[in-house]
Amino acid sequence: MKIIRTKDYEEMSRKAANLISAQILLKPDCVLGLATGSTPIGIYDQLVEWYKKGDLDFSTVKTVNLDEYKGLTRDNEQSYYYFMHHHLFDRVNIDEENTHVPNGKVENGDEECLRYEALIESMGGVDLQLLGLGRNGHIGFNEPAADFPKITHCVDLTESTIEANKRFFASADEVPRQAYTMGIGTIMKADKILVVANGEDKADAVAAMVQGKINPEVPASILQLHNNVILVADEAALSKL
Ligand code: GLP
Repeated sequence: MKIIRTKDYEEMSRKAANLISAQILLKPDCVLGLATGSTPIGIYDQLVEWYKKGDLDFSTVKTVNLDEYKGLTRDNEQSYYYFMHHHLFDRVNIDEENTHVPNGKVENGDEECLRYEALIESMGGVDLQLLGLGRNGHIGFNEPAADFPKITHCVDLTESTIEANKRFFASADEVPRQAYTMGIGTIMKADKILVVANGEDKADAVAAMVQGKINPEVPASILQLHNNVILVADEAALSKL
């Protein structure tokens, strides 16, 4: 795993945005796997800035998002569909039909998961997958578990994740208890993986991901087996390595 150390969140965002920008310049019709959470917001802001300056063109870029809460409508401000439109898609020249987020309103979870997995295959797979990191080592919404889930599936969120994500909702009760997420197998099929992390509260998860035992109780630890992973993280997040 290649590690790029930055002094703070701003530098982390800029360096990670540089890598995404390079991907788009090298392959204008690339498939980007995108992530939500607070960590990537600075990256999206930076990409929008470069787009506005005329340095980036999203017209042929395709995207697939990692995950979505089950039960939220797309116009719900806490849905990841809404998040992506708000932070990136509505601010650049990407074609709506080239953007994909699992549909949280589909009741038949199995059908939605199979559809999403087949969609990624039909796009030719992901060129560059962006990942944030949960405090418990989750990636996407692949929570600590007894095994590594292979494909897109419906998960029960852990109390730790509900607790961490309640800051975006009026109360913990409003956080959905389930989500659709790409599986670990789906993520590992990406050509390149870019993980971003900042802040001291990610330091344990970063250390476990980089040098811990490969173990489904720390889902991100599987990334040690991928041959093209770049971690861009600030000093605080790297402080336990
Ligand atoms: C959520 C998302 C993850 C994200 C994680 C960390 O659970 N499903 O994809 O990586 O939160 O979020 P944050 O960047 O806000 O710490």
